[in-house]
Amino acid sequence: MTHTTPAPGSVALVTGGTGGFGRALASKLRALDVTVVLADLDSARNWQVAEDLGCEFAVLDVTDRAANEAVVAQVEAEHGRLDAAFLNAGIAGFDSAELFDLQSFLAVVDVDLFGVVFGAAAALPALQRAGGGAIVVTASLAGLSPMATDPGYSVAKGGAVAFVRSMAPRLAAQNITITAICPGFADTAIIDPLREEFAAAGFPVLTAEEVADAMLAAWASGEPGAAYVIQPGIGATPYRFKGVPSARTATGETAVVPEALRPPSMR
Ligand SMILES: NC(=O)c1ccc[n+]([C@@H]2O[C@H](COP(=O)([O-])OP(=O)(O)OC[C@H]3O[C@@H](n4cnc5c(N)ncnc54)[C@H](O)[C@@H]3O)[C@@H](O)[C@H]2O)c1
Repeated sequence: MTHTTPAPGSVALVTGGTGGFGRALASKLRALDVTVVLADLDSARNWQVAEDLGCEFAVLDVTDRAANEAVVAQVEAEHGRLDAAFLNAGIAGFDSAELFDLQSFLAVVDVDLFGVVFGAAAALPALQRAGGGAIVVTASLAGLSPMATDPGYSVAKGGAVAFVRSMAPRLAAQNITITAICPGFADTAIIDPLREEFAAAGFPVLTAEEVADAMLAAWASGEPGAAYVIQPGIGATPYRFKGVPSARTATGETAVVPEALRPPSMR
């Protein structure tokens, strides 16, 4: 990714904003004079984190569709615009059942996939009113390489990547860039249950700062629909999707996809 910087005075919303990646990103955005609204679950700790970072705090449970809309409306009412939405809230699941834990699956998909979809649906009209902008979705490497211990997380993050890729062309036509970031394991609270095992195995984990740098670059100069893999020792690099074989016509030529399968703005 080429590095440019967001214009000072831009307005960014970060869901899951008081967590590890959210805090690291917020510090970087504040240093660039971006107005930052951190949206997260309601707790004294989360309000305090936002205050310490010089950011506004908005209470948000991303699984609540109406609440996503209310937060975006609040941002626009108070700051006049929204330029970037970082849809970053997430939880890990863990399926230790012998066959399948449906409850765990549904809980993770609710936050990690529908939280993203609701967040995007709420942010899009505001980004359009601002004349364009960015949505950066925090997916995961698990969205590209499913984890056998966590089907819910794998489906949610894989779904988030598919959502980004599906939405990208129509949004690009509106000057809105949607991208996904796909970090490997990183040193935040989400890996607390596994931290000692990583250390014992000598397995390297990312810092939150490394991931925040990639989130910032995805806003400033991300390619529509790109999914940026971030791994220790590698940095951020766009994942190369292999694609699928095209259909062939009766005469053996590559079939052209019908116009109806393209978004209205691209016909
Ligand atoms: N740390 C990693 O190893 C790693 C790797 C790949 C992807 N991710 C993803 O990065 C994102 C940020 O996670 P993190 O590593 O900073 O962990 P974190 O636990 O520090 O932060 C997650 C934040 O999301 C918030 N959150 C959880 N449920 C919510 C809900 N329903 N509504 C609103 N906010 C909610 C939490 O309160 C927390 O502040 C997540 O989507 C996570 O899945 C993390």
